[in-house]
Amino acid sequence: MTELQDLVHRAETEFAAISHPAELENAKARYLGKAGAITALMKGLSQLSPERKREQGASINLAKQGIEAALQQRRAALAELELHAKLAAEAIDVTLPGRGQHGGGLHPVVRSWMRIEEIFSSIGFAVAEGPEIEDDWTNFTALNSPQNHPARSMQDTFYVDVEDERGQPLLLRTHTSPMQVRHARAHVQRYAAGIGAMPDIKVIAPGRTYRVDSDATHSPMFHQFEGLWIGERVSLADLKGVYTSFLQTFFERDDITLRFRPSYFPFTEPSAEIDMMFDSGPLKGRWLEISGAGQVHPTVVRNFGLDPEQYIGFAFGSGIERLTMLRYGVGDLRQFYSGDLRFLEQFNPA
Ligand code: DAH
Repeated sequence: MTELQDLVHRAETEFAAISHPAELENAKARYLGKAGAITALMKGLSQLSPERKREQGASINLAKQGIEAALQQRRAALAELELHAKLAAEAIDVTLPGRGQHGGGLHPVVRSWMRIEEIFSSIGFAVAEGPEIEDDWTNFTALNSPQNHPARSMQDTFYVDVEDERGQPLLLRTHTSPMQVRHARAHVQRYAAGIGAMPDIKVIAPGRTYRVDSDATHSPMFHQFEGLWIGERVSLADLKGVYTSFLQTFFERDDITLRFRPSYFPFTEPSAEIDMMFDSGPLKGRWLEISGAGQVHPTVVRNFGLDPEQYIGFAFGSGIERLTMLRYGVGDLRQFYSGDLRFLEQFNPA
């Protein structure tokens, strides 16, 4: 192998081993640069005879072209490698499922809650909300369940390790009924100054309630809505009219029969359970218990700050989960709180 062939071969081997473009340019300088091997050979030509000069010059040129070709080839190869690396790094797996745009949705219980507010607002009821941490007097005593009253044991709840000004521990409200007291007392105070006649107290109060209870039809946290209508001549007939019309609107059907079954609550006298029955469909003919209700007890009316000889009315307290289960055909109340999207998404069609 001639010296020049050897030089070209070395250049080729060297270039081929380089994996970085900047290094390749440095290597190029060693052959083709000002102080490079080829340049040095060119300079040496001047000492040769014209004959040798032509011959040797042509050979050097060939070698130079060979080195340049090897350089070009390696440059292209490195550029190609770089492109491939970049494409691999920025690769998108088009087979992955898209992130999509999943809209949030309303919980079925919240849907019912909103529906209940709309229906009662449309027939003149105010909507009130109150505290979930309640004091003992408002949750029990004002509602005619004084300390040690046996009816208190119907509602076992969670107590908070804080006492109110009466020295009673605060508790998570066991029902929305304390809102009767809060709302009525605020209403009475507003009219105490005697700005004309007091309008009827006509309100619903939906919200969360708590009890130590857990099975297919009870959850330690659940929702109720309280209804209260107090005036000078509000009767149980009005209760029946209001509640029937509510149920018909809520379930969007007229074939519903109601029954008032005698019951006991300390804050109403007489008291009733409201049962309803669908006259067609899968639940046809079955009595379904949906609400407690009654004529507000005179002691409770007095605790509102009103004279029970003058004011009278009704109250009811219904479970929102129960109505939601009946409306959508849900069998187990615990499903509402399982956090299972497959269940929840059914109520929020995309
Ligand atoms: N507070 C009762 C409960 O949770 C339900 C109830 C019954 C509410 C009768 C009322 C009523 O307003 O009049 O069991």
